Amino acid sequence: MSELVVRPLGYAAGASVTGLDLRKGLQADQLARVKAAWREHLVLVFPDQDLDAEQLIAFTRNFGEVERNDSVPYYRDPNHPEVLLVTNKPRDGKPSQTRNTGRNWHSDLSYTNRPAMGSVLMCKEKPPVGGDTMFANMYMAYDALSDRLKHFLDDMHAVHDISLIKGFERRDPAQIAELKKRNPPIAHPVVRTHPETGRKLLFISDRVRAFVGMPEEESRPILDFLNRHATSPEFVYRHRWSVNDIVMWDNRCTLHIALPDFDQTKPRHMMRCSLLGEPSGYVIQDESPMDEQAARSAIAAVS
Ligand code: OGA
Ligand code: MN
Repeated sequence: MSELVVRPLGYAAGASVTGLDLRKGLQADQLARVKAAWREHLVLVFPDQDLDAEQLIAFTRNFGEVERNDSVPYYRDPNHPEVLLVTNKPRDGKPSQTRNTGRNWHSDLSYTNRPAMGSVLMCKEKPPVGGDTMFANMYMAYDALSDRLKHFLDDMHAVHDISLIKGFERRDPAQIAELKKRNPPIAHPVVRTHPETGRKLLFISDRVRAFVGMPEEESRPILDFLNRHATSPEFVYRHRWSVNDIVMWDNRCTLHIALPDFDQTKPRHMMRCSLLGEPSGYVIQDESPMDEQAARSAIAAVS
């Protein structure tokens, strides 16, 4: 087999990993190198990997526990609950409900008490141009803030809200009600320390409504600034997909956005596996924390 090569693709994030055939699994030394590259580059691209669902799940399992997407049964691979289909191809004659997944800056499942640790997305079909995905480095975003603002944010919590998913209100009404019930607003720390790198990072996104202890009208301008700052071009890697690319990102220290910059009549079909994250946060109901049991039942839904 050819040699494993890691080649940076962007300044802020992104590296390609070549010289592996992921259908054959990873040797211990290869896995160690991939994990080190992931810590360093945050987003890894594995080109030319024609995996089936089982192989994709097996690959993802190298890095942690794989989510089963239990609350989105319609968009799972029928035979593999771990695989979510992010697709614009109609299902049963109806438009796909995942066709507009990820249209604002986010970290997967941040509106749950187990924000995803990472996600693995594989491109099966793509439009001739566009359908790119952008990733932003949240270490850099934090580091670039003034000491005053870092100090202000260091012990803050922010409320992540599923209803701020872009286009959420256009989903099927029954699904909206169910998703809101399963995922009440949840507060997470604004500044976190990555458990593996020990580096501080900013954990905000377009799906944050307010800071805990501050009304929305005070929070909004600061959140708007932070989101704009965190997604500045210098912190961003933009991925242009090829069929059979596998892209794996660390959700703890990046945000991403799926761009609608393509002809929606052309198929774009992706398979996604997510890695279960550590328990985090507390549920907010009318600005007061909910009990532990209720917080635990706030489980994953869509991304
Ligand atoms: C996701 C997501 C990005 C894309 O699957 O979590 O945001 O480009 N998708 O499809
Ligand atoms: Mn996503």
